[in-house]
Amino acid sequence: SAAPVITVDGPSGAGKGTVSHLLAAELGWHFLDSGALYRVTGQACLIEGVSWEDEARVAEIARGLDVSFSAAENGEVLVAYKGKDVSAAIRTEEGGRGASTVAAIPAVRRALLARQRDFRRLPGLVADGRDMGTVVFPDAPLKFFLTASAAERAERRYKQLILKGESVSLPRLLEDIKERDARDSSRAVAPLVPAEDAVVIDSTGADIEQVFAQVMKEVTLKG
Ligand code: C5P
Repeated sequence: SAAPVITVDGPSGAGKGTVSHLLAAELGWHFLDSGALYRVTGQACLIEGVSWEDEARVAEIARGLDVSFSAAENGEVLVAYKGKDVSAAIRTEEGGRGASTVAAIPAVRRALLARQRDFRRLPGLVADGRDMGTVVFPDAPLKFFLTASAAERAERRYKQLILKGESVSLPRLLEDIKERDARDSSRAVAPLVPAEDAVVIDSTGADIEQVFAQVMKEVTLKG
C-alpha cells in the first residue's frame, strides 16, 4: 500500500499511547492501537471460557476475533467484542496480563498480522505497539521507540489507575511492569526491541509536551 506509516513502539507506560494519539490527530491520520487487539483477544478468552494458556483455542479466537473500534462523543476510543463494549475491562491490570500472555503465542501474532496491516490507509497511519517497526510495518519511513525507567512508568500507570478509581499498590505495579517487560522482551516471536532504524526517545523526567515536541521535530525533518 502507498499509505505512509509512522510506528511508535516501546514498553508499557512509556507514553506511547498519548504521544501516538496526539500525532495521529495532528497529522489527521488513522490510528492503530495494536495492544487493544491483544487485550481484546485476552478478554474474548475470558468471555468464551478459554484459558490463556490453551494455545490452539486462543489462536482460534484470535483468527475469528469480532472486534470493532468506534469514537465516543468525548473523543475516547470505544472497543467492542461481538458488539459489546469491553473498553473498560481490557484496560485493567488483568487485561494487561491476559494481553501479554496471549501475545506470546506465535499463532496469535500471525492471526492478528493481516488485521493490523488493514489499518494502513490514506492519508496515513500512526501505529502504536511493540513490534510495529520491526514486524508489522518494517518498511515504515519513520519509526520511534519510546522508553522510560521502570520506576517512572510504574508511577505514571499508578496515577492513571487511581484517576480511574482502581485500587492499586505502587510496588505491586512496579513488579507487574518488570514482569511484563521481561516477558515481552524475552519471548521468541516479535520480542520488544527497537528497530535498527528507530529514533529512540527516553522520556524519563520529561513530560508529554516535551516528548511530543521531539517527535514532531523528527516528523518535520522527514517532511
Ligand atoms: O500496549 P498495551 O499495553 O495495550 O499492550 C498490552 C500487551 O499486548 C503488551 O504487554 C504486549 O504483551 C502485547 N502487545 C504485543 N505487541 C503489540 C502490542 C501489544 O505483544 N504490538
